[in-house]
Amino acid sequence: MFNKFRKGHKPLSTEYTKEEVLQHPIPEHVAIIMDGNGRWAKKRSLPRIAGHYEGMQVVRKITRFANELGIKVLTLYAFSTENWKRPKQEVDYLMKLPEQFLTTFLPELIEENVNVRVIGNRDQLPEHTRRAVEKAMEETKHNTGLILNFALNYGSRRELTYAMQEIAKQVAKGQLAPEEITEDVIASYLMTKDLKDPDLLIRTSGEIRLSNFMLWQLAYTEFWFTDVLWPDFTEQHLLQAVAEFQQRGRRFGGV
Ligand code: FPP
Repeated sequence: MFNKFRKGHKPLSTEYTKEEVLQHPIPEHVAIIMDGNGRWAKKRSLPRIAGHYEGMQVVRKITRFANELGIKVLTLYAFSTENWKRPKQEVDYLMKLPEQFLTTFLPELIEENVNVRVIGNRDQLPEHTRRAVEKAMEETKHNTGLILNFALNYGSRRELTYAMQEIAKQVAKGQLAPEEITEDVIASYLMTKDLKDPDLLIRTSGEIRLSNFMLWQLAYTEFWFTDVLWPDFTEQHLLQAVAEFQQRGRRFGGV
């Protein structure tokens, strides 16, 4: 069975049930680079934004399923600091999606005890986007179920640069000695400071790169790549990713 997984990102013939996967430890934090919306739309001669719309529906489906599996944190790369380079019409649409998603699904998310969070620079978001995500964060802040963490206007290099600037300020003020800068201190200046590092990273659409996503936090994360485009991603794909994760020996640099 293991060899089937090792064929990599080809469609897998092994199907898993939720019950099978639940017999083994579930990754606590799953991060996903949701890629391939544009190609999904192009294949259907649709505008790229149709792919993003479909991608949003998949976000809903996968959030629900992640919660059912007992995943504690689901971090979704929804918009990177580099995505502003896209055509204005596409950026405008992507900036409407969080609002649309939350307007449609916030009551259900509250019902399911989901805690919505955002990493990324919110100050540069359009007012309507910022207000929508802040409302969702406020209304779900006491929820104790799945943490649905959107990376929105997020870039890992920017996050690390900001952390270094803040640490340097502490040093300049004499409040921190250089030798007191530990890994824990650096992690405490990141936007993920309250979250454990991802156990499993999924990237869809056949691209095998990190695209400036959680460079510090992914140091010991297991990676799972698939050719499946994000709008085609199903619960079964998540089960396959988790099942493969469960078969890997994580040693964190030890033996
Ligand atoms: C990458 O596909 C996808 C994005 C840049 C946007 C991801 C956004 C969603 C999946 C919807 C977000 C939903 C919420 C709720 C915020 P691409 O456009 O780069 O695809 P391509 O590589 O095929 O062109």
